[in-house]
Amino acid sequence: MKDQEKTPHSIYRKDYQAPYYWIDAVDLTFELGEDATRVRARLQMRRNLENNRSGGHNLVLHGEQLKTLSLKVNDNALAADIWQADEENLTVLTQLPEQFVLESEVEIYPQNNTSLDGLYQSSGNFCTQCEAEGFRRITWFLDRPDVMARYSSTIIADQKKYPVLLSNGNRCEQRDLGDGRHLVRWEDPFLKPSYLFALVAGNLACLDGEFITRSGRKVRLEIWVEPQNIEQCEHALRSLQQSMKWDEERFGLEYDLDIYMIVAVSDFNMGAMENKGLNVFNTKYVLSSPETATDKDYEDIQGVIGHEYFHNWTGNRVTCRDWFQLTLKEGLTVFRDEQFSADMGSAAVKRIEDVKILRTAQFDEDRGPMAHPIRPDSYIEMNNFYTVTVYNKGAEIIRLYHTLLGEAGFRKGMDLYFQRFDGQAVTCDDFRMAMADANDEDFTQLERWYDQAGTPLLHIDMEYDAEAKSCTLHLQQSQSTPDLVKNWQPWVIPVRIGLLGEQGEDLLCRLDDTPDAKTEHVLKVTQEKQSFRFHEVNARPVLSPLRRFSAPVKLDMQRDREEMAFLMAHDSDHFNRWDAGQTLAQDVLLDLTADIQARRELSLDSLFVSGFEKILHDTHLDGAIKALMLTLPNEHLLSLQMQEIDMDALHTAREFALSTLAQHFKQQWLDLYHSLRSTTPYSNDKNAINRRRLQACALEFLGYLPHTDHQHIGIQLAEEQFQAADNMSDAEAALKLLVNHPGPARDKALSDFYKRWKHEPLVLDKWFTLQASANHPGVVDEVLALAQHPDFSMKNPNRFRSLINIFSAKNPTYFHAKDGRGYQFLAEQVLAMDALNPQTAARVVSAFNQWKHYDVARRALMQAQLKRIIASPGLSKDVYEIVSRSLG
Ligand code: TRP
Ligand code: ZN
Repeated sequence: MKDQEKTPHSIYRKDYQAPYYWIDAVDLTFELGEDATRVRARLQMRRNLENNRSGGHNLVLHGEQLKTLSLKVNDNALAADIWQADEENLTVLTQLPEQFVLESEVEIYPQNNTSLDGLYQSSGNFCTQCEAEGFRRITWFLDRPDVMARYSSTIIADQKKYPVLLSNGNRCEQRDLGDGRHLVRWEDPFLKPSYLFALVAGNLACLDGEFITRSGRKVRLEIWVEPQNIEQCEHALRSLQQSMKWDEERFGLEYDLDIYMIVAVSDFNMGAMENKGLNVFNTKYVLSSPETATDKDYEDIQGVIGHEYFHNWTGNRVTCRDWFQLTLKEGLTVFRDEQFSADMGSAAVKRIEDVKILRTAQFDEDRGPMAHPIRPDSYIEMNNFYTVTVYNKGAEIIRLYHTLLGEAGFRKGMDLYFQRFDGQAVTCDDFRMAMADANDEDFTQLERWYDQAGTPLLHIDMEYDAEAKSCTLHLQQSQSTPDLVKNWQPWVIPVRIGLLGEQGEDLLCRLDDTPDAKTEHVLKVTQEKQSFRFHEVNARPVLSPLRRFSAPVKLDMQRDREEMAFLMAHDSDHFNRWDAGQTLAQDVLLDLTADIQARRELSLDSLFVSGFEKILHDTHLDGAIKALMLTLPNEHLLSLQMQEIDMDALHTAREFALSTLAQHFKQQWLDLYHSLRSTTPYSNDKNAINRRRLQACALEFLGYLPHTDHQHIGIQLAEEQFQAADNMSDAEAALKLLVNHPGPARDKALSDFYKRWKHEPLVLDKWFTLQASANHPGVVDEVLALAQHPDFSMKNPNRFRSLINIFSAKNPTYFHAKDGRGYQFLAEQVLAMDALNPQTAARVVSAFNQWKHYDVARRALMQAQLKRIIASPGLSKDVYEIVSRSLG
């Protein structure tokens, strides 16, 4: 909380006001130095005549940690008594003309900036991160997204140390200054808010390429990395070209500058940043090679490159009026990157992966102290609202428009959105109106998705009338989060459904009031209770509800296990086949958990086992889908179903199911594993990826076999696979098994891996992650020891997360160890990190958010750590906001 210990204040959406001044043009000059950097800013300003006609409102600029050297208005120095600066603002105390030029010169200290917000250094290079409010750490400014200006920047730096000087737009001047320094000047022709400004300076190598737009313009593409990484950029460049092509074909959107640059830096708080014409990326989402990156890494790179590229239209050309509207650009851009990845790979696999994230992380957020609507009403620190709710649930809400309007209607809405708002800073309401107007729809009720937090509960009852051959669905929706029930109003919920016949075939049926019989229908639920009737249904059908997860809701249906096993075997919708299997597995696992709590004898439901066997033997499913279907829901997901979470019982139940399935199908797993052995060198085509996925799944089950006479076939196979692997997917899958089995095989593999990869940071992160997520009781001691390892670092967020976030968020069984050592350890890490990097500290402290859902003993232990954190002097706004909401 800065120096003085005052309680941080909240900012409210309802308080939005347009700025009293506009900034039309910004000319920046950076003199980058080793001890300090000088920033001169020339702002061409103008009074906002709509709310400040007379100039009665003083000019108040944002700025943090700036050493002000001089201030001028229209070339006249501002005397010291007519301006005043505090921790956050500069106020000019005199009346200013209607138009004026404000010039400031400040000194900043990027080499000491460990928050990675504003201008900072990474591996000796300079780079910036300005979203959300980092630009104010560079110069005095109106650092808010509705102030859009034309930028030009001059960068001056030592020629040898910083041969490459980059900023947004086009390079328009370059010269030697004769004193060992050089100068480069950039101009960005597009208006933009300050959060999209970027500067990079350093010793970097470039992989270049090009893209010819559909109108025939040639765009130069540049991927900039530290020289030792230059061989690892091909996939990123290809992904960028694919993204550019896809956006033209799918949305008719063309790139607008002559150059597109991506810079990869190793110290970065998030995944990547869409700065105009100059994206800055976490190396994790750029660098790849078969030996160092897994299939998942390759997919993630493609997805994030796409995401940042798609922001050029959804975010940059049309941006947000204020930060409460963040989902306007993020929800929409996540939706677009999801569609892109689906088109580049497998739509069903992508949908399953996305829904898994939503059901674990987002549903989790909704049941805890940080629950907020996709358009929040208030915040203390904006950086805390870059959440799964704003991003991923936001994307689900965009998907609702798509489901309701269809592809063509959605496209019409997008076209109108760009036609109306190109070059402007707008709101979620503006988007919703464009979608409605383009399609002559009334989308008033859709606003409730932007206003109401919490996960909807959707109850469905089916009634079949054999005589009338009709089938009626009774739907009822409610708010599943008890704290949010007050003033709740029904949502618009599109429910995509199919009806299956006795043989599992899709039934053609006709919905009331519609002329055509179809095999799939979208029911538009708008009321608390609503019924829909289908005709010409000849026998009692089985319902396949919420296909492809057509809305972000929890389903509540009385279904017996036979019905779920039936859908798991037959549903023509792959997503729902997977989902039925997961629902069945969840049911079985929660029953086992109850048996463990009641100390009853355990046995694995035979219906589930036979359903599982059918999937195992299904020859039509591709390897990736099959692997997903053969994966049991994890402890985190299961824990969301328990009033009082019993992580130990959940873990024991899951282990019991896994080892039962491992033993029961031992020979099948072995056969499958061997049949999937690669006979050709590494390739990353779809078939090879699917093969590796399924083989990894078989190996994982083999890891759950018991030891017999000091032998363990799973460990043996993993050792062989690890030694023979010519790619990181195979090596990682093997090591994942080995880390769970303390002993010589594990020690050797971990030490070989370390020796081979200790100079490759992203791979060494995996070494930490694998150990932090290991499944054996010694893991707490190991994590504590790894935090003392010379390669562990608080300065690098990737490294910190690879140990601390993974342990606390992805290894719940051991993080929640009864003795509270995990909790104490996390609190210490949070406090140490908060002094360096508040954003990263605030993310990891969220691991305590569900403390109220645990047993009395754990509740007390977590609460004590939260109290210890909040009592610490000098806490950041970031951590303060999360912890104070948690303690409630
Ligand atoms: N706008 C970025 C994205 O979604 C997110 C981002 C990158 C970010 N860096 C950040 C958000 C730092 C807050 C703080 O692509
Ligand atoms: Zn984004």
